[in-house]
Amino acid sequence: MDWIFVLGVVISVVLCVLTFISIYITHGRRKYSHIPGPPIDNFFLGHVPLFSKYVKEGKFFNAMTLDLCKKYGPVFKMNFMHSTFVFTSDPQAVRELQITGNHPKSYITLEGIIYLFSERFFGKSLVSETDQKVWVWRRQLMNPCFQKSYLRGLESALNTEIDLLITRLAGLADGKTEVSMLDEFNHLTLDIIGKIAFGMQMNNVVNRTEKSEFTKAIQLCFRGISENVRNPFFKYNFFNWNFINDVRKALRFLRVFSKQCFEERKAAIERGDYTPDDILNHIVKMKLENPELDDEVIVDDIIVFFVAGQETTACLLSFTMICLWQNKDILERLRTEVFDIVGMKSYLSIEDVNKMKYLEMVIKESLRLYPPGPNTFREPKHDIEILGYKIPAGTPVAMSTYVSSRLEEFFPDPLKFFPERFSPNAENKITSYTYYPFTLGPRTCIGKSFAEIEAKIILAKIIQRFNFEMDPDQSFDIEESTTLKPEGGAVCTLTLCDSFEG
Ligand code: HEM
Repeated sequence: MDWIFVLGVVISVVLCVLTFISIYITHGRRKYSHIPGPPIDNFFLGHVPLFSKYVKEGKFFNAMTLDLCKKYGPVFKMNFMHSTFVFTSDPQAVRELQITGNHPKSYITLEGIIYLFSERFFGKSLVSETDQKVWVWRRQLMNPCFQKSYLRGLESALNTEIDLLITRLAGLADGKTEVSMLDEFNHLTLDIIGKIAFGMQMNNVVNRTEKSEFTKAIQLCFRGISENVRNPFFKYNFFNWNFINDVRKALRFLRVFSKQCFEERKAAIERGDYTPDDILNHIVKMKLENPELDDEVIVDDIIVFFVAGQETTACLLSFTMICLWQNKDILERLRTEVFDIVGMKSYLSIEDVNKMKYLEMVIKESLRLYPPGPNTFREPKHDIEILGYKIPAGTPVAMSTYVSSRLEEFFPDPLKFFPERFSPNAENKITSYTYYPFTLGPRTCIGKSFAEIEAKIILAKIIQRFNFEMDPDQSFDIEESTTLKPEGGAVCTLTLCDSFEG
């Protein structure tokens, strides 16, 4: 009879736990009952099955939010198990959440990058710090090395690194060899951030027998984040444990590498050796002047600069190449502008590329359709109202520049690649609250100017020297693996422009 008793106890405990969870979920969701949203597919999982359906169809989070926004309007809710998120595309709410209200980032949405598979990743870096007071202090310490005046000093190093890629591509420009521009740009942007920010000669562009350990590690970590986000049960599946172990090894590798970078430079500064005036120098001096700063937090920042400073710009450049290939008239107009301003000059100054107004519009339009980091979340400090809907304090509110940019009401004919939208004479003025690929307000991307200068010089040099044909067999869909990137890697063949051959 004992086993019947034990079974009875187990069933009672399970029923009690389920009742408790049900009450908890029902109570949590009641606060949001007035907000529209898709019907819930499963009481416990909420909208997880809907999300999984998108993932299975090869679509992604932003594709889902775009569909839902078109169906349910500018404010809707989503439930992921016990958590509720609100999404908004309302420009006034975007302004309040990102700029005027000074609301903090949402911890729950950053958990998966702060620690990934129980291994520290972004930790308490600038991008993932949710304590506004701590963040303000650290951002102020970091701002000087991203100011335009500081970036001017990096022009020559930028030209040197980019020319290494131009030389490499010239060697491949036989009209036959297939080149993945995403790979090429990933290596270049990693070399640039390594050299300019951390005084390291990484040689990823030149030494191309294999991807560098560092590039592989970053890509693996991004895949890890992506799998984790796509499927909340991913880490519990035994069949994924080998992959998870590889990601954890990659995370440890990034940390050890970054720590070594920091400690070597610190030792050099303490010995009084010559050290380059780069971002790492600034970080180390910041630590020496503020000993209360935790070394691990400094390492977090170094990792973030490497990661954020590389993939995003590489994705932007690859998408832009695809858009230009699909719009030959725009490519020709751009090439004319580049030739008119710099001819065949090989050293391009920041001043040169800043004169290229059409180039600027092309890059903005590419970021509109293909923003590498499309989502941002804020947690209102107090109850707020969006279009008459009360949003309780502490609710994670998502905003997506990808979604806003694809809504007809904000951008007529939204899928058309049309750089003139960004012309100062354009009929429909674009407001920043509907277009924010670097986000807005105090938490805007610290590397925005850096990325813009880098992208402009790289693109101008490529357009100046090469014709390219994309491989039409590849998919030009978007792949979401933390950043949005071109599926297929933007594979093309290259030939030298006549003027360059001559
Ligand atoms: C095309 C290139 C880039 C794009 C589209 C981009 C986009 C973004 C976005 C959307 C955010 C806000 C993220 C959020 O709200 O959670 C952000 C933040 C950030 N980005 Fe970038 N980024 C780019 C390049 C760079 C570069 C080159 C660096 C560094 C060298 C960088 C460093 C950072 C950092 C440190 C933050 C956190 C800022 C803070 O919260 O204080 N980014 N970036």
